[in-house]
Amino acid sequence: MSLVDLRALPRHVAIIMDGNGRWAQRQGFLRTLGHREGSESVRRIVRASRRLGLDALTLYAFSEQNWERPQLEVDALMHLLEDFLVSERDELIARGIRLRTIGRRHRLPARVRGVLEAVMRDTEHLDRMTLTLALSYGGQEEIADAAREIARQAAAGALDPERVDVRSFGNVLPSMEVGPVDLLVRTSGELRISNFLLWATAYAELHFTDRLWPEFT
Ligand code: IPE
Ligand code: IPE
Ligand code: MG
Repeated sequence: MSLVDLRALPRHVAIIMDGNGRWAQRQGFLRTLGHREGSESVRRIVRASRRLGLDALTLYAFSEQNWERPQLEVDALMHLLEDFLVSERDELIARGIRLRTIGRRHRLPARVRGVLEAVMRDTEHLDRMTLTLALSYGGQEEIADAAREIARQAAAGALDPERVDVRSFGNVLPSMEVGPVDLLVRTSGELRISNFLLWATAYAELHFTDRLWPEFT
């Protein structure tokens, strides 16, 4: 913490948490163990972000494309998500952190959705920091959904098509509710966006690190 210039903090940080599988495989463990270790990193980074005083932290936890992974791995990730929510609920409340999600939440298993929606309800009044989990999320999907919503409003006569502009999208993109991203981090050495926040990162600073997510501090 003493190395950080607190007067020059980004307001909104977004992270592509990558490298769990490689972290595990490097040590001869199953990939799912890497995800377990990765969820410890999530706890650590959420705490540190709150202590630094960030307004918003957005974490890429599960992409729309991650459904194509082996069923056992998807199941393990869903269990870890549920465990995270159950075990962090009190801590989020104690630290004043509001939890929200972006992405196609309806695709998540009902159990996970139940816990998720309960924690979202329990924290919706909190305002020290907003933690957004991108779950079943895709940046292109989000923009396509926004375009559909704008088209619907135009078709209903509530919006003049000639007036559709950048701001119209900002108004309907769920990821933009917490404002644009100032700093985007990707761990594990990959130099890709992988369909994360395509709109909100238009002017974000980009930081790529070779560190794998379970060892990111
Ligand atoms: C990131 O780690 C976690 C998720 C995508 C859910 P990976 O599982 O992608 O790990 P690598 O990239 O295979 O090492
Ligand atoms: C991006 O990582 C998705 C998340 C971190 C949740 P991936 O490992 O799924 O992305 P690709 O496949 O390397 O592009
Ligand atoms: Mg990966």
